Amino acid sequence: MAVPVILDCDPGHDDAFNILLAAAHPAVDLLAITTVAGNQTVEKTTLNARRVCAVAGIEGVPIAAGRSRPLHGAPLVGENIHGGSGLDGPGFGEGEPDVPQDQRDALTLIRDTLLAHPAPVTLVPTGPLTNVATFLLAHPELTHRIERIVLMGGSTGRGNTTPAAEFNILCDPEAADIVFSSGRPVTMFGLNATHQVRATPDVVSRIAALGTPLSRLCVRLLTYFTTAYREVYGLDAPPLHDPLTVAHLIDPSVVSLVRAAVTVELAGTYTRGATVVDLDGVTGRPANAEVGMEVDVPAFWDLIVEAVRVLGARTDRTPSAS
Ligand code: BDR
Ligand code: CA
Repeated sequence: MAVPVILDCDPGHDDAFNILLAAAHPAVDLLAITTVAGNQTVEKTTLNARRVCAVAGIEGVPIAAGRSRPLHGAPLVGENIHGGSGLDGPGFGEGEPDVPQDQRDALTLIRDTLLAHPAPVTLVPTGPLTNVATFLLAHPELTHRIERIVLMGGSTGRGNTTPAAEFNILCDPEAADIVFSSGRPVTMFGLNATHQVRATPDVVSRIAALGTPLSRLCVRLLTYFTTAYREVYGLDAPPLHDPLTVAHLIDPSVVSLVRAAVTVELAGTYTRGATVVDLDGVTGRPANAEVGMEVDVPAFWDLIVEAVRVLGARTDRTPSAS
């Protein structure tokens, strides 16, 4: 049976590919998309989620906007990586996408979706954890309807936004602390895993060879992402972080997991937002998460290319594709 999923995201180039993967693959039942401030403001990430769904022909999946700022402090944005729109590269134009914004807020949409679905639902956050933490605090009576939380964030080692902290966790460390301490099963895909999946020229060529309007748009996204990662980090090919979450749901053999105690640094002068992952069990703290480690990189890219192929073939047959 397909895994019922709510994506909570901040598109974002890599979030966009995660939406495509979740919508395309029959092993996933994409019930709802909620958005959060992160890579850009929540207004922009919501518009971007609608744009991605519109160009990919993803219909009937409600999209609702969530929190515009973290639980504490000022919002960060990822403009240096994702651009002024949050999804720079393709040039979506000024027009409104055909896919509407759900008028409920993200928390209400999550609540309604959990209540309506007969089985517990997997939450997949790929942005700051503000919506998820707020939901856990607001609705303790519904947490048993959350099967598990499979997130992109953190790292077993170094960060990317400070030397210690990864972007999603640094945006809202208090929210991340609430999620990791929630008692719900948490699976974390951090930079140590996501930096294994680089969108190399080979990968981009495979997507280009699909020859559909959607594949051309994906190439433009990856081209922008490549330039940004080269300029900011000096990397030749950008890591496509977020889709490791859904790839894991589709095929658990894509990433190996270890159980470990994960805590979030809330105070450190230089290390706020770091995920402290006790891989060696030296703290004696009980494991509270599964942590992604080694990735089957070819299997991951096969899933991504196939998702773009499947959705591209569908939209290629519709008159609105351009
Ligand atoms: C994470 O931050 C954002 O730039 C990406 O979308 C990803 O979720 C990587 O640190
Ligand atoms: Ca993201």
